Amino acid sequence: MSGGHSTYTPKTGLGRWMDARLPLPRLIYDSFVAYPVPRNLNYAYTFGGILTLMLAVQILTGVVLAMHYAANTEIAFASVEKIMRDVNSGWLLRYMHANGASFFFIAVYVHIFRGLYYGSYKAPRELLWILGCIIYLLMMATAFMGYVLPWGQMSFWGATVITGFFTAIPLVGDWIQQLLLGGFAVDNPTLNRFFSLHYLLPFMIAGVVVLHIWALHVTGQTNPTGIEVKHKTDTVAFTPYATVKDAFAMVVFLLVFAYFIFYIPNYLGHPDNYTEANPLQTPPHIVPEWYFLPFYAILRAITFNIGPIDSKLGGVLAMFGSIAVLFVVPWLDTSKVRSAVYRPWYKVFFWLFVADAIFLGWLGSNPAEGIYVAMAQAATAYYFAFFLIIMPLLGFFETPRRLPNSITEAVLEKKGTAAEVRTVES
Ligand code: HEM
Repeated sequence: MSGGHSTYTPKTGLGRWMDARLPLPRLIYDSFVAYPVPRNLNYAYTFGGILTLMLAVQILTGVVLAMHYAANTEIAFASVEKIMRDVNSGWLLRYMHANGASFFFIAVYVHIFRGLYYGSYKAPRELLWILGCIIYLLMMATAFMGYVLPWGQMSFWGATVITGFFTAIPLVGDWIQQLLLGGFAVDNPTLNRFFSLHYLLPFMIAGVVVLHIWALHVTGQTNPTGIEVKHKTDTVAFTPYATVKDAFAMVVFLLVFAYFIFYIPNYLGHPDNYTEANPLQTPPHIVPEWYFLPFYAILRAITFNIGPIDSKLGGVLAMFGSIAVLFVVPWLDTSKVRSAVYRPWYKVFFWLFVADAIFLGWLGSNPAEGIYVAMAQAATAYYFAFFLIIMPLLGFFETPRRLPNSITEAVLEKKGTAAEVRTVES
């Protein structure tokens, strides 16, 4: 996966034998040992590694849970209770998997916002970014289907609401909904296909992650300055520098994760999901998991018809559009400067956008009535304006700050040793 020249030399006879046949150790050495990374990467750059770890946690715990889970509406809920009470360490596996989904999303949001802040999506990393967007979509589909499996009240009603969105699509909407459900309502066939897909998709995610990291190793990582690597002094070897930093960040992240698992395992869940699904009793508020709330708010913000598009279809289009817009971000940002560190105005709009996304999340957890609707409409307007108006226009109006000549210069300037810069650079 390394883009550069290989420096690997096998030291043993077995190593040379292997290298001539399947140079896997060479690939690992070039990609994760000698691979040069910018010397100024901060902790925001450790979340890619954390995400890889969380994907592994989800797959491992999920595979074992699946050995005890029964995808049948008659016994699905009871099988999860059995896992919690009778299976050895079943409670731990389940709490790891359920909270793991949330922590996976926390990590992916930090990762995406990091990308938006440092302009990671800009050329030549457009494909790397798009592969990330595909992973994000697959993550959303996986999480949604996983939430249906315990067959609680929120599982059932969440699935009913979300598959119902598709009926807003003209001509093919009903057909898509029936295809998803395997019938006309959420029932046993739905649970079966969701379980099958919930098992499949994480492996597809793993496949796209391989492409993602491959693309990363072709272009190389960005860094907080946004300036490409120019000199040898701009980089350090991945091992030990990045490995140790990534490992430390993982340990801290896992400590917080462990706190949730052992002390507040149900904090991020919904109490209604401890009641078995009942198709005859709608819960008073149907809310998705926290990581979907901003999109839920956008969906419900469209309460008016837009020309021939009725409000229901408008809401669905706005919700899908809010994710689709991420795919074209590399072409919406017209600034010649990559990193927000040197973009005074972009920085302001970026932090407003972060606040806006959190605000939308809060609105998504509230009922869509009264003042909440107006606030969701304003927040949705800013969400789209950030991508479709501010990003394209800012490149023309903003005066960026002076960029350092190189990563090394930026690092030494920060340390107050600018005088040394010339010596190192020459
Ligand atoms: C399972 C999910 C994911 C995994 C395992 C993953 C893994 C990684 C890793 C290991 C890196 C290098 C380390 C770092 O920069 O943090 C990286 C970089 C990157 N990722 Fe991801 N990623 C995931 C999801 C995403 C998503 C959803 C996006 C965007 C929508 C994205 C966009 C990027 C970009 C643009 C970079 C390059 C960063 C730079 O060099 O500035 N990734 N990813």
